[in-house]
Amino acid sequence: MSAPDASLALLQGPIAGGLERMREVLTDQLHESSPAVRDMIDHIARFRGKQLRASLTLLAGEATGNATDEHPSVACIVEMIHLATLVHDDVLDGATVRRRVACVNERWDNQVAVLLGDFLYARAFALSTDLSSRLCSRVLSEATRRICVGEIEQSTRRYDFEMSQADYESIAGAKTATLYAAACELGACYPSGNEESGARMRAFGYEIGLAFQIIDDCLDVVGDSELVGKSVGNDVEDGKVTLPVLWTYAQAGDGVRARIRDAYTLPEDSALEEGRGVSRAMLLRSVCDLEPGVEYAMARARELTRSALDRLAELAPSPARDALEALGAFVLELRW
Ligand code: IPE
Ligand code: IPE
Ligand code: MG
Ligand code: MG
Repeated sequence: MSAPDASLALLQGPIAGGLERMREVLTDQLHESSPAVRDMIDHIARFRGKQLRASLTLLAGEATGNATDEHPSVACIVEMIHLATLVHDDVLDGATVRRRVACVNERWDNQVAVLLGDFLYARAFALSTDLSSRLCSRVLSEATRRICVGEIEQSTRRYDFEMSQADYESIAGAKTATLYAAACELGACYPSGNEESGARMRAFGYEIGLAFQIIDDCLDVVGDSELVGKSVGNDVEDGKVTLPVLWTYAQAGDGVRARIRDAYTLPEDSALEEGRGVSRAMLLRSVCDLEPGVEYAMARARELTRSALDRLAELAPSPARDALEALGAFVLELRW
């Protein structure tokens, strides 16, 4: 087991039983008789991700003393929505690798990937109607709406090198932190529980989720695709100007700014003039020093994580609370 796998297993320790149940429910829910769909489901289910959001639902439930028999199903719905967003996001981003294997859009095509994402959303919301409370449907349909808005906003702000950090964070927050926030809120207050504890855990999840996306954006510009296990450099390719680049651009003089814009926008032929196999991200790294921008973004991620962890102070000591704290450190060290 690799070091990140081992630390993930450690922080999932206090919810091992719930997570196992969540995986059983997931296998059940993804069952489909159509051979074509089964092929695709096998493909995405065989290479399971970190299941961080499902873990957060279960950990928040345990840490707040709110865990119920239905929590594994709630966690499973959260995980299915996450899966659906990944399948759709890879179409939007033209990504080729996810979880070390070909994305659905790459292995099959965009059309079926869109439909498979829809299939996953349908399954998730159908399962939510089986639960005893409507809270899960309400919170997750609102989260899904926000994720869509975040992805749409992001698409309309492509190549915007003057974007404010607040606007960048609002987009990253909507598309990613929203689901973290919902996962934690549901853990703490499903089926109808304590509003205060739900709001506190929601804020915890939002900050951890935003830190997670900022780090993911750093890995996209400077990370190694082998280590990360998915396509990197796509943000530059797609015109997404993320925090490390926004900061670098804001600090740069006119000459470097022009070269940064060129790395994003020059037609393929001229961008790749130096030889085949040079990506836009490589070009970007060659025209400016991204390290200080990455350091700035990482400092922001650390600040968000610290603030998130402060929110746990009110919780009674427990292995689940320790695991939520460890999750903050885990996210900051994320390289995959
Ligand atoms: C990837 O999330 C999508 C982002 C919000 C950056 P994860 O890295 O949690 O995905 P898996 O499920 O572990 O593959
Ligand atoms: C995550 O953003 C968007 C989702 C809500 C799935 P990214 O586009 O950065 O995620 P990755 O890098 O493809 O996993
Ligand atoms: Mg993507
Ligand atoms: Mg990314």
